[in-house]
Amino acid sequence: MKALVKYAYEDGALEVRELPEPVAGPGTVLVRVHTVGVCGSDIHMWHDSQSKSSKGVLPVTLGHESAGVIAAIGDGVGGWSVGDRVVCETAASICGVCALCRSGRYNLCPWREGYGLKRDGAMAEYLVAEPRVLHRIPDGVPFERAAMTEPFAVAYNAVVERASVVPGDLVVVQGAGAIGLCALQVAIVRGAGTTVVLGTGIDGKRLAKATEMGADRVVDITREDPLEVVAGLHDGLGADLVVEATGVSAALEQSMQLVRPGGAIAKVGWGPQPLGFTLDPLVKKAVTLYGCYSHTWSTWENVLRLFASGRLHPELALGGTYDIDDWEEAFSAMQRGDHVKSVLRTPFGASSPETGVTA
Ligand SMILES: NC(=O)c1ccc[n+]([C@@H]2O[C@H](COP(=O)([O-])OP(=O)(O)OC[C@H]3O[C@@H](n4cnc5c(N)ncnc54)[C@H](O)[C@@H]3O)[C@@H](O)[C@H]2O)c1
Ligand SMILES: [Zn+2]
Ligand SMILES: [Zn+2]
Repeated sequence: MKALVKYAYEDGALEVRELPEPVAGPGTVLVRVHTVGVCGSDIHMWHDSQSKSSKGVLPVTLGHESAGVIAAIGDGVGGWSVGDRVVCETAASICGVCALCRSGRYNLCPWREGYGLKRDGAMAEYLVAEPRVLHRIPDGVPFERAAMTEPFAVAYNAVVERASVVPGDLVVVQGAGAIGLCALQVAIVRGAGTTVVLGTGIDGKRLAKATEMGADRVVDITREDPLEVVAGLHDGLGADLVVEATGVSAALEQSMQLVRPGGAIAKVGWGPQPLGFTLDPLVKKAVTLYGCYSHTWSTWENVLRLFASGRLHPELALGGTYDIDDWEEAFSAMQRGDHVKSVLRTPFGASSPETGVTA
């Protein structure tokens, strides 16, 4: 089968390879991948600029934003049938017995192994999965949209499960990439009173997308001072929540200026660089800083429900669908800021664009 493989810790060490088809061993299923989203982290893996705090294995097939159908079922697996349309969570493996796993917070399991980093991922024709990670794709949600469940789950975790936005809040999202724009949509669904999205000079098209998604205000920080914009909103004291979805140290520094006293910052961005500034504003303003990582089963179910009901709009984030052989163009288009999200189609995906969709 075709698979997009990172084979060395070097910039550019990524290629489509022919690999043996995996088999569904006992307790697992084989998923025939239809569509898989390109994540900012896949682009970092391409350039070998990924956060070194999460070290992977090599060679590894990239991809953790998959949608497909069950192709085979291993011994001992019940409740699933060949042909079921599914998305797979990213935690390919967890220990299952630590305190975090047992209390449902398995996204934080120290022994978690994610697809596309420590386990072969979904930028391939087939993927092996434990039934624990499977979710049914609701009828009417096409594979291309379902493949975006993961970035929306990241955003849902940050905005709802960690920072608990309440209706009426002023929410500022730093970053107009996929995560930032998913966070915008979740904040709107959650009832934010006003939403502001900040981006940089390359984000013109993505900030326009943010407006289309319902942002009340978008700011290119290279042209306009976001502090002035935010000071003119609500009571002028600052944002109830700032979502840091850039991974850039300068953005964290600015988030402490944007947030109101007693407010919160949800830090989603990975930023391996040292900070080089004081955190005193956090102390002075008694701000809560939430580290936000990944998601769990109920996050995925809620996102899929909101896709099915049309309250979240993955289709607005989808910028282009590419065959797996054209991965470089798919990655580059996102990197250039041409659009928010690229998805790759396997040969199966190309031959059956909307399999199983009833509406
Ligand atoms: N915590 C998690 O579970 C998790 C999951 C997925 C992604 N992430 C991280 O979230 C971050 C965002 O992911 P993405 O895929 O959307 O990335 P991206 O690179 O596509 O988007 C980043 C955006 O931030 C903008 N930006 C850069 N500096 C800025 C600044 N100072 N102010 C405002 N905007 C600025 C960029 O122009 C771009 O629009 C990344 O760091 C990624 O690694 C974390
Ligand atoms: Zn992702
Ligand atoms: Zn565990």
